[in-house]
Amino acid sequence: MLLTVDHVRKTYPGGRPVLQDVSLALDHGQTLALTGESGSGKSTLLNLVGALDTFESGEITVDGQALSSLNDPGRAALRRDRVAMVFQQFNLIPSLTVAQNLSFHARLGERLDKGWLSDLTRRLGLADLLDRYPEYLSGGQQQRVAIGRAMAARPKLLLADEPTGNLDETASAAVLDLMLDLVRDTGAALLLVTHSLDIANRLDRRAHLASGRIT
Ligand SMILES: Nc1ncnc2c1ncn2[C@@H]1O[C@H](COP(=O)(O)OP(=O)(O)O)[C@@H](O)[C@H]1O
Ligand SMILES: [Mg+2]
Repeated sequence: MLLTVDHVRKTYPGGRPVLQDVSLALDHGQTLALTGESGSGKSTLLNLVGALDTFESGEITVDGQALSSLNDPGRAALRRDRVAMVFQQFNLIPSLTVAQNLSFHARLGERLDKGWLSDLTRRLGLADLLDRYPEYLSGGQQQRVAIGRAMAARPKLLLADEPTGNLDETASAAVLDLMLDLVRDTGAALLLVTHSLDIANRLDRRAHLASGRIT
């Protein structure tokens, strides 16, 4: 398995547990849709898997690494080398051009492959936008940059948190198609949070989060 989540519990300070007892598994190259009502803990779970936050019990392993055993540099290395994330709000770096945003993560991990990057740029339809800054892009264009930035380092696992939640129907369809194509071509696994059953149905499997558990 590429990813295992085993009896994970997560409580934010001062609150009740958001995740009570969450378990799931994802194999290399598999795609899984995570659904659940607003506030059910989907983003919390994604952030745990992406090593952006910690949990109090249970275990998560990514590509053989147990996240509970990693220190801060270990978590940073995981995010750099194996896992990439795409968010609803795009989260591009506003002071960097499209070209600089695209290569940003791959450069951090010293995993920049110029041939792959130019291939990605072309496939994502970004070749004419490389010198622009994010504020001058449409939402769909921004998300295509974010997908390129995520895939540039050839992650084994792509985490996407409602990646089409801020896009109109046409841009959503294009972004989803591109993301699924890239994931399949690179053999990456995908864990994607979505409200849309249409989107969920295009992935290999679906898991539903409710009351802090996968149902
Ligand atoms: N950083 C945080 N600190 C405290 N509570 C949080 C934090 N992030 C999320 N929550 C709470 O945890 C619950 C789950 O949030 P979230 O994971 O964002 O749900 P979803 O993505 O399914 O909408 C919500 O009640 C939310 O208010
Ligand atoms: Mg969320």
